[in-house]
Amino acid sequence: MNKKIILSGAQPTSNKLTLGNYIGAMKNWIKFQEGHDGIFFVADLHSLTVKQDPKTFRDQVYSALATYLAVGIDPQKSLVFVQSQVPEHSELAWILNCFSSMGELSRMTQFKEKSQKVGKNIPAGLFTYPVLMAADVLIYDTDLVPVGIDQKQHIELTRDIAVRMNQYFGIDLFKIPQPFIPEIGAKIMSLQDPISKMSKSDPVENATIFLSDSDTQITKKIKKCVTDSGDQITYSDSSPGIMNLINIYACLTGESTNSIVERYRGKQYGHLKVDTADVVVRFISPIRSEIDKIMQDRGYLDKIMAEGAIRASARAEVVLNKVYDTVGLPSRLRR
Ligand code: TYM
Repeated sequence: MNKKIILSGAQPTSNKLTLGNYIGAMKNWIKFQEGHDGIFFVADLHSLTVKQDPKTFRDQVYSALATYLAVGIDPQKSLVFVQSQVPEHSELAWILNCFSSMGELSRMTQFKEKSQKVGKNIPAGLFTYPVLMAADVLIYDTDLVPVGIDQKQHIELTRDIAVRMNQYFGIDLFKIPQPFIPEIGAKIMSLQDPISKMSKSDPVENATIFLSDSDTQITKKIKKCVTDSGDQITYSDSSPGIMNLINIYACLTGESTNSIVERYRGKQYGHLKVDTADVVVRFISPIRSEIDKIMQDRGYLDKIMAEGAIRASARAEVVLNKVYDTVGLPSRLRR
């Protein structure tokens, strides 16, 4: 019964999750939920690090949960919940904050990028966000964290904090987690700027494919995607736009990148675009319908959230109680 614990989450920052989120992370969540102890949550507290519209934010949280279910996360097999409904995460985050340094947090690439975008009045939450992420992971004795490459540095920080506290207190307080990053698809690129990551919050039109996009939107975005001016289909860093399409194609069909390049030898970029659009449409179309269907039934989503939160809290408090005892706080009270 000692199954490996797999944990991951995504932020409900924009209206919908993206094809990048699916390929880089969620595809592996689904693979791992078989034969492992899967824990998947909607990281809504993380989204508050940038300003959210309270009128739409709650809907985004529901929509993210509906997307998890629509892509195949099964609440009968995995623990599924919303982060803000399990307050133990925030409790642990405070304690971890006291064992993290300003220096290491200011070295986080994502903080540097995001704070630059915010400009003035950078929220402190943006700075300490990786510590909340460390709490998300460490509170469940997680073994493996399936994520895209952009989260690797945060998992390394999580490991550093865990090792530091284990050494300081001289006990195995936390299990040391490992990241799981796919070989292909760990960074799906923007369709309009193939040297930047495809992102939920990209304001550039046609840069991002959402799991809620219509067939027409998907086809248009892929047809208009930026490639170089060459005409040979190759899998190389000098053709990042083409490489990105091949990666998307390979990840959604299971065909190897070599075999795709072979098949398109001598063909034009347009062929690859049309066929990739077709593959993406066939993949997203049933997911989109399923999200729409699930979103009609708020009662069902509320039930999943409530059941998930109760189970998650019961598990989270085991490590949290141990942390309270270890740092010397009075025992955590049960309410
Ligand atoms: P988030 O919401 O930015 O992204 C969710 C997951 O999708 C991956 N991802 C991508 N993979 C490939 N190509 C892309 N273009 C792409 N864009 C996003 C991300 O790497 C991530 O795995 N901090 C996290 C959420 C989080 C979390 C956690 C994850 C909070 N706590 C604990 C793991 C464990 C985030 O902002 O992901």
